[in-house]
Parts: sequence; C-alpha cells; structure tokens
Amino acid sequence: MQMTRKIKQHFFKKLYSLMTDFFLMYFREGNEPEETTQITYRELLVQVCRCSNVLQKQGIQKGDRVAIYMPMIPELVVAMLACARLGALHSIVFAGFSAESLCERILDSSCSLLITTDAFYRGEKLVNLKELADEALDKCREKGFQVRCCIVVKHLGRAELGTGDSPSQSPPIKRPCPDVQISWNQGVDLWWHELMQEAEDECEPEWCDAEDPLFILYTSGSTGKPKGVVHTVGGYMLYVATTFKYVFDFHAEDVFWCTADIGWITGHSYVTYGPLANGATSVLFEGIPTYPDVSRLWSIVDKYKVTKFYTAPTAIRLLMKFGDEPVTRHSRASLQVLGTVGEPINPEAWLWYHQVVGAQRCSIVDTFWQTETGGHMLTPLPGATPMKPGSATFPFFGVAPAILNESGEELEGEAEGYLVFKQPWPGIMRTVYGNHERFEATYFKKFPGYYVTGDGCRRDQDGYYWITGRIDDMLNVSGHLLSTAEVESALVEHEAIAEAAVVGHPHPVKGECLYCFVTLCDGYTFSPTLTEELKKQIREKIGPIATPDYIQNAPGLPKTRSGKIMRRVLRKIAQNDHDLGDTSTVADPTVICQLFNHRCLTIQ
Ligand code: WT7
Repeated sequence: MQMTRKIKQHFFKKLYSLMTDFFLMYFREGNEPEETTQITYRELLVQVCRCSNVLQKQGIQKGDRVAIYMPMIPELVVAMLACARLGALHSIVFAGFSAESLCERILDSSCSLLITTDAFYRGEKLVNLKELADEALDKCREKGFQVRCCIVVKHLGRAELGTGDSPSQSPPIKRPCPDVQISWNQGVDLWWHELMQEAEDECEPEWCDAEDPLFILYTSGSTGKPKGVVHTVGGYMLYVATTFKYVFDFHAEDVFWCTADIGWITGHSYVTYGPLANGATSVLFEGIPTYPDVSRLWSIVDKYKVTKFYTAPTAIRLLMKFGDEPVTRHSRASLQVLGTVGEPINPEAWLWYHQVVGAQRCSIVDTFWQTETGGHMLTPLPGATPMKPGSATFPFFGVAPAILNESGEELEGEAEGYLVFKQPWPGIMRTVYGNHERFEATYFKKFPGYYVTGDGCRRDQDGYYWITGRIDDMLNVSGHLLSTAEVESALVEHEAIAEAAVVGHPHPVKGECLYCFVTLCDGYTFSPTLTEELKKQIREKIGPIATPDYIQNAPGLPKTRSGKIMRRVLRKIAQNDHDLGDTSTVADPTVICQLFNHRCLTIQ
C-alpha cells in the first residue's frame, strides 16, 4: 500500500515536471512586434526561485512588503511570484503613476524594498522609469523613510547583456536605443541580472495560511488618499482560478490574452494568478493597441492564435474610430470569447466588438467587478447566458447581489438603486492595509450587513443587471477609478488656486474625462499657461491618466448654505445643460449664470 503510494507520487512528480518543462506559460510580445519570446512554466519556476533567493538574501521575510514599479515584462511576473513564494506582500504600482504616487504607496505600507526597471518604451514614448523611482525614493528619504535596497532590471539597456542573462531571453531591442543614462545610487541600487546570476535555482516555498495576505494593491478612495486593498492567499487564488475557468470557458488548448497592465487588478487576476492557477498559456504584451499601427491587437491575435481575448471598453472605442479595415485585415478565426471590463460598455461599442471583432460568432462576456472583489461578480457565462448589449447580466456562482433604495430597503423585480452584495465570496478583500476601520466604514457602514460597491444599478424585467456608473465621488476615466478629491487636492497645491471642484464629463473614448472648475487666488489671472501648469502639476502628483480635458475659471462655485460644493450642478454646467433641477439650496445663485458664461467649449 505504502509502496504503491510512493510509486504513484513519484510518477506524478515526474509527469508534472515533464509537463512544466514544455508547457508554455507566456507568449511574450514586447513593444516592438519582432520582440517575441516563449516562456515555459519550468523556466518561470526557475526564475521565480532565483528571485525568491535574491529577495531572501536581501532580508525579505514572510509578511514584509515589497514595492514593484515595472512595465509589462516577464521580470514583473517573476518578481510578484517570488514575493508570493516567500509569503511577502507585493505592492505593485502601475508604471504610469508619478513618483509622488509611488512614494505615497511605499510609505503607506512601509515597503522594505523596491524593484524597478531602467527604462522602457510605451509605443513611441520613452519612459525613464528609474528616474521616477529615484525621485520617489528621495521623497521617502525626506519623510524619514528608507528602503533597504532598489533592485533594477536592465530592460532597455539589456542589449549589452546578451541573451541568457535576462529571464525572458528576449532578443535585444531592434529599434535604435538611445543611451538612457540612469543614475546609480551606490549602497541602494543593485542590478537584477547580477543578483539573479548568483542565485540558486531552487527555493523552498514558505508555507502560508489560507487567510495570510498575498498582496496589497492601491485603489483610489473617495477621501483622496488611496486605499491599500489586501487580498489573501486562499480566497483570492481560489476565486480568480474559478472565475477564469468558467467565465472564459477555459480549456487546455486555449491561448488567453488579457490586455490589462499587471499594475491594475485585472492584470493581477487575469494575466498572472487566474491563468497560472489553471496552467493556461497566455499572451504577455508590453505595448499599446496603436503602435506601430492600429491593427496591432488583431495581428497579435493571429500570430498566437488567441482564443479568448479580454480588454476594456475604452480600447474598443478607441479602435472603433479607425473603422473596420484594420480589424478585418486579419483573420481572427481563432477567437471564441471576447471579454470586457472596467466601465459600462455602451451598446454601440458592444455591437462593434461582437459584429466586427468577433465576426458575430463569439460570445461577449461583460464582466463587472472591482479591485476589492478580486474577481468577476456579475458576468455572463459564454455560450450559456443569452446576452444583452451593455448588461453584465447575472451574478457569478455564489454571488448574491441586491439593489437597495436610499433607506436601505431591498428592491425586488424591476428596480434601480445601490448595487450591494448580501454575502461574502472567496475573493472579497479582507482589509485596507493598516486601516481596518476605513475598510469597515467604506464598504459596510452605509448599509449594515451589506457590501456596498459604490455603483448604481438597474435590474430589468428579465432580471438582467445593468451598471449605471459610480454614485459616489469617484470618476471612471478609461476604466480607471479616480477620486474627485485627489485631483482637487493636486490642483489646490498650486499657488494660484484657492479652490477647485472636479466633475466627470462624457468623453467619446475615455468614457468619462475630468472637467475642473478652479477659483484663483487674488492677484492671479486665468491663462493658457496656467492651465498647462495645472495639468503638469496633476501629472506629477498623480500620473498622466488623471490629466484633465477641461479646466474652467470659476470666480465662484455653487455651494449649499453649509458650504458644500454642489457637484450635481457643476456636472450640468459642464454639459451646458440648463435643466438644473432644484437649485433653491444654492447660497449664491448668481455664480451659476457666471459659470455658464465661462464654459470651456473645446478640449484644452
Ligand atoms: C469600478 C471598479 C475590475 C477591474 C477594473 C476596474 C467599474 C468595472 C465594469 C463593467 C460597468 C464596470 C465600476 C466598478 N466597472 N467593470 N463590466 N460594467 N462598470 O477596477 O478600478 O477597482 O474599478 O469599475 O464602476 O465599481 P476598479
């Protein structure tokens, strides 16, 4: 008995190792179309073990936090999984965020170490990431905090290294590579490739409890300060593995491609953990949909015979503008399921996705979920759920949604109100890092006993759910949440600005864009130079995603008698909609007229 078990164990171990030796984990496609490599599960495992050993040598232990600030390169996946192997929490900061945002996140969870990259290209644009990382670490130092070290991946400069030293074994970049001069801080900076070369190939994983934290990922909070969403080892992984399997109808022969950056939850769940837990082969793409041309996505679909594809409505709307030809130029015959996530998809974009991209033969899965939920919450199951363009349809297994009215009563049948969940699910976030009270107050206080999403929702006569958008002070720009408060505080930090109010405004590609009202301090005048300065300030404080499309001079702002800014009125002014509803509570109604006269007519 004992013997047969031993033989069996040995057999399965051998089989597993054979499988992982050859089983493809990623088709990696760089920013340039010719930059391609294939990474097997075995290769990744070796790199992850080496990286875990490197981190361990730098003193990283279970429970420590590690900040990661990198583009979409294989080393990013290696770094995050190396943290997971040690039971250390990775805190990935999207490489489009500013130095200030990175600093804020490092400080909030007192990260022991930072892993970053020399530089990279996003399409035509060169991003000197190391410079931003240095700036962030300087800011941390000014605030009395110092990371133990900063590990730097030589990505753009890897041509000098030759193949074999970089985990992706990528060929050197073909485009003329400018000599990116990166500054080097002795005693803090360490080269990734040097450390990895010396490290051992094997590393015993740290055993973790199912409820131990796996990672922190920051998301905008309505007070302006980002929240460190904490997900756990057991629940999160179970949830992303299951949703990946059913929502994309995963089969072993699939090639899956989620275009999201790993810096966002979609990338965590459906580029790294979900596909990995299912042994899937997926595409890891570093570039953007419009480089070198607007057919890049479809050329990649054909190149790797992608079967399941997952992207955001903003990308669909952007590509729609260029017509059908860039899509139909490629066969796309391999495609079976098309997913969307990040914001409500307008029926026009849904239909284009279905008719043009999917040639009317693919299922569309409109997946509603949040950073906080870990994985999909409302979604069709491909081939099984009759679709309605623009509806995320029904709850996933085990998810219990409800629609509440303002007084917290559950509404039955056809209804519209607050979208909440009545019972927990495995992937629910467990806390806000370092601030459990904020976790309780944000999600469970308004309606005790329910998890509040912050989204409005309608249920139709057939029981389909339709997300109507945020009903708090959050904005959704290109599928990314921003809080009005964080943009406002970036604006008022400028010496010329006394007060600012930011509202969401419809945008044909981004879904929503930022429309800012600013009241100047005495002695300043409103000018194009000032608006440029303000935009620069926001880019530096938050990042390019928060750049406003409109900044309007507002000598006064509509406020209630108690001094609360009336955003509802400002939203209407921005849209030149004179149907303002009840304005009897506005303290000084003359400001409204003044603001209509000063409206911005064009995107600045
Ligand atoms: C918010 C969460 C989940 C990954 C990307 C965003 C909006 C998300 C949908 C959808 C309508 C959607 C909601 C939600 N949202 N998916 N399919 N239909 N709205 O993660 O940054 O945490 O944002 O995105 O407003 O609350 P996030």
